[in-house]
Amino acid sequence: MIRVAVCGALGKMGKEVCNAIEESDKTELVAKIDIAGSGTYQSIEDAHRVCDIDVLVDFTQPKSIFENAKYCLNNGIKIVIGTTGLKDDEIEYLKKLSKEQNTSCLIAPNFSTGAVLMMMFAKQAAKYFDNAEIIELHHNQKKDAPSGTAIKTALMMAEAKDSFTKGNCPEVETIEGSRGGKSYADIHIHSVRMPGYIASQEVIFGSSGQIFKIRHDSMDRKCYMQGVMLAVKHVYENNDFIYGLESIL
Ligand SMILES: NC(=O)c1ccc[n+]([C@@H]2O[C@H](COP(=O)([O-])OP(=O)(O)OC[C@H]3O[C@@H](n4cnc5c(N)ncnc54)[C@H](O)[C@@H]3O)[C@@H](O)[C@H]2O)c1
Repeated sequence: MIRVAVCGALGKMGKEVCNAIEESDKTELVAKIDIAGSGTYQSIEDAHRVCDIDVLVDFTQPKSIFENAKYCLNNGIKIVIGTTGLKDDEIEYLKKLSKEQNTSCLIAPNFSTGAVLMMMFAKQAAKYFDNAEIIELHHNQKKDAPSGTAIKTALMMAEAKDSFTKGNCPEVETIEGSRGGKSYADIHIHSVRMPGYIASQEVIFGSSGQIFKIRHDSMDRKCYMQGVMLAVKHVYENNDFIYGLESIL
């Protein structure tokens, strides 16, 4: 049995992960950690003092994740990171730390298999289109923007070319932010925050005379659990650093 701790256990994702860990006959839920409530450990340190933890799954918040990940890697706890908002230099730091400590770290901006396929297809399509933009749509309690999935999609598309704004005329924004945020390879990302959505993303490609769209919608947070469980198994059985679920699919 893989002994798993869930950090952010009282959150929307954390609750689903706790259920999935408890339902599987390959994993055992040894600690629920959350700063918000009673009946949980308040910190990873508190849980680690009394529990043997093989793998910690973190779905907390952008401002906590870097410290949480460093604590785990420095203390021999393998970590699966679902929390978004890590900066590029922080990811690089965790990659180095994971190698130094010979302790697995898997970061996935999106654990939904459909969303990962969307990213892979967007990467393929990027070769054939000179213009592309991304719209990501999430519930209005999401703290970071743009989403980690949108950033990762842009990064994967940017392998195909340097700019996706071919032929665009010089632009003037009469309302600041109208064109969204400019990310890798000049790919504009537009973030919508609204109750009703869980997580959706559309990648729009354009060329003379045609528009090609790839869209994914998460209807229920259960869609992430297959990916989370694969990640838990992977980090338990290996000692490596992985960024993106596609690397283990
Ligand atoms: N990778 C993915 O597939 C995926 C999918 C959905 C959400 N997310 C990300 O996961 C994170 C959590 O999302 P959510 O919707 O469950 O949020 P949420 O606000 O519902 O839950 C977060 C929980 O973490 C707890 N928490 C915050 N800081 C903590 C800390 N330092 N230690 C312990 N507990 C802490 C909070 O009390 C809360 O219960 C966000 O960053 C979100 O963007 C990732």
